[in-house]
Amino acid sequence: MLRVAILGAGSMGHTHAAGWAATDAKVVGVVALDRGAAEEVAALCGAAVYQGLDAVLPQVDIVDICLPTYLHLEFTLKAAAAGKHIFCEKPIARTVEDGQKMIAACNAAGVRLFVGQVIRFFPQYRKAYDALQDGKIGNLAVLRLTRVGYRPHSSFENWFGDVNRSGGPLLDVLVHDYDYARWMGGEIERVYTRCSPPDAGSTAPVTTYFKAAPGAVADVGIPLSPLEVDPYTAIIQHFYDAVQHDKPFAVTPEDALAAVQIGIAALESAATGKPVTLTPLPEVN
Ligand SMILES: NC(=O)c1ccc[n+]([C@@H]2O[C@H](COP(=O)([O-])OP(=O)(O)OC[C@H]3O[C@@H](n4cnc5c(N)ncnc54)[C@H](O)[C@@H]3O)[C@@H](O)[C@H]2O)c1
Repeated sequence: MLRVAILGAGSMGHTHAAGWAATDAKVVGVVALDRGAAEEVAALCGAAVYQGLDAVLPQVDIVDICLPTYLHLEFTLKAAAAGKHIFCEKPIARTVEDGQKMIAACNAAGVRLFVGQVIRFFPQYRKAYDALQDGKIGNLAVLRLTRVGYRPHSSFENWFGDVNRSGGPLLDVLVHDYDYARWMGGEIERVYTRCSPPDAGSTAPVTTYFKAAPGAVADVGIPLSPLEVDPYTAIIQHFYDAVQHDKPFAVTPEDALAAVQIGIAALESAATGKPVTLTPLPEVN
């Protein structure tokens, strides 16, 4: 039985508390700036509220980062330096450089870093992936992904509404689809974004061009169907099992970093109106 600290008690802090309950891990501590929310999440897991990461670190084996994206780097570096394994919510970081520093720090500390690219744990997405792999639906020519959601209005201090801290929907939301597109079709070579004004009801078609199949295109833009398994629980079970039994992760931190690289290119393309060609990321040691 490993001991866990949940950092952040917003939407994902609550979701992760439910996921951990489906494992034999023990959530011992919750850290968040909003005390009421921290108490709520702690009550869900029979945990205590701690004042900060330093206070809870000696008590745990795993740090589960459900903090706003711009804080992922700072808290991952501290947790890695203390020798803790890390589950970090997606996107891995606000920038590629921050993500690289996180991977390097975890490698240097010999701790495991996993990023919650949860789409791969949705049964419908997995089914389409398996059908492609098994040759049941032929070769991938066009992959069209659509993600529709409401604008989050209750994020902590409205961090989500600040593109500098969240990357906005082009990074924060569509990072799910960038990861899925890469999983399905391989590396992405070019990204082109047309973005309507960033007000309510805005749309952002992002076209990514795969490297392996010239001419193959993915239009990113969730299918609605009943879930057999809660993917947010499945992903925590997967992480916990892999850490406990030293198994590989289904999604590597490098996959998560590649998805962020596509998101940053999508932001750049939206700003310039021009396609952005991706350069392969160097291996992080
Ligand atoms: N996998 C998914 O489908 C999914 C869905 C939503 C959000 N996310 C990601 O999860 C992360 C968290 O998003 P959220 O929606 O839960 O955010 P949120 O705004 O709902 O909650 C953020 C929490 O962080 C705490 N916090 C902020 N600064 C802190 C600090 N310095 N020290 C300690 N606690 C601090 C706040 O008190 C709050 O409890 C983001 O990276 C987001 O992109 C993933």
